[in-house]
Amino acid sequence: KTLRQAYQDAFYIGTALNRFQIEESDSVMAEIVGKEFSSITAENMMKSMHIHPKRDTFNFEMADKFVALGEKYDMFVHGHTLVWHSQLSPWFGTIEDSLEFADATEKHIKDIASKYKGKIDSWDVVNEALNEDGSLRNSIFLQKMGEDYLASAFKWAAEADNGADLYYNDYNMTNPEKRQGAIAMVKNILDQGVKVDGIGMQGHWHLNSPSLEEIEQSILDYSALGVKVAITELDVSVLPNPWDLEGAEISQNFENSEGMNPYKDGLPDSIQVKLANRYKDIFSLFLKHKDKISRVTFWGVSDGQSWLNGFPIRGRTNYPLLFDRDLKPKAAYDSIMALKERF
Ligand code: G3I
Repeated sequence: KTLRQAYQDAFYIGTALNRFQIEESDSVMAEIVGKEFSSITAENMMKSMHIHPKRDTFNFEMADKFVALGEKYDMFVHGHTLVWHSQLSPWFGTIEDSLEFADATEKHIKDIASKYKGKIDSWDVVNEALNEDGSLRNSIFLQKMGEDYLASAFKWAAEADNGADLYYNDYNMTNPEKRQGAIAMVKNILDQGVKVDGIGMQGHWHLNSPSLEEIEQSILDYSALGVKVAITELDVSVLPNPWDLEGAEISQNFENSEGMNPYKDGLPDSIQVKLANRYKDIFSLFLKHKDKISRVTFWGVSDGQSWLNGFPIRGRTNYPLLFDRDLKPKAAYDSIMALKERF
């Protein structure tokens, strides 16, 4: 049995794909993707700087390949992301006039969403619009268009493709203050009669945080809004989080950061087991609430390709995913497979 088969009656099991994984399409990687996962998310190629590099120029090449792969393997295809302040194509920043900025944003959303109408099953319409305290991030979108940009973005996306599920997606969504902000924000959009279909909790988590209680409470609170809940960018870092270390002097160069890359020669069995248990605990919760969860997507297939080898410190060796650097399933994979057998 594969992961995809084991979880098919629970929720979609997804992975993010980047261009390297798509281009290796006749390798072991492609086999893993098609067999083990039932959904894919565009890790980078649909971000505005890649897909819409100039105001009048789109570059759909990689995104088209991504969508075609989803069709080939009969997957639920998720688009990421229509409105995001980061990796924003530089031309947005050259528009002075607010109305013109709003027009350009509307056109950006509609051109992309309508091009993939019927092919993209769900979209992250707005990504990371909140600060940690739950207030709205002072992004270029907020500055130019005011708070209305949020409802407008969802309205425009629905006008372009009413059939796709439309999501708000963010990280640290288990943090109580941010959670309250997200709930207020989505409620405000819904109250305007604009459709939001789901909330994406990114799930860039650690071995010990967030707590299972916080994760569970978040799933319950978000779904109480009447929307779907997706875990959209799941990975579990096994490395020390520099932001946890009080007063630590962190350099972007790990060689100067004592103890920050402890497993560069391999992951000790004890940590391998910890990771497998953490995944087991998290997935027990997901299965408990499977009626509320539409999709659980890992932020990549194998450890070697994870963004967490380069963040928040460059050049580390992290082990956050289900497949190791040789594309072999890890204990974490076995643990969530075994768990499903019991449900
Ligand atoms: O492809 C180029 C390569 O040619 C070049 O040599 C290299 C040098 O820096 O850069 C490569 O591009 C990098 C790209 O990832 C592909 O690996 C970019 O610099 C790097 O900025 C980019 O990082 C991505 C990051 O978002 C920023 O867009 C990560 O892959 C991606 O995993 C990450 O994903 C985000 C979600 O979109 C939103 N939520 C948080 C999540 C993690 O940061």
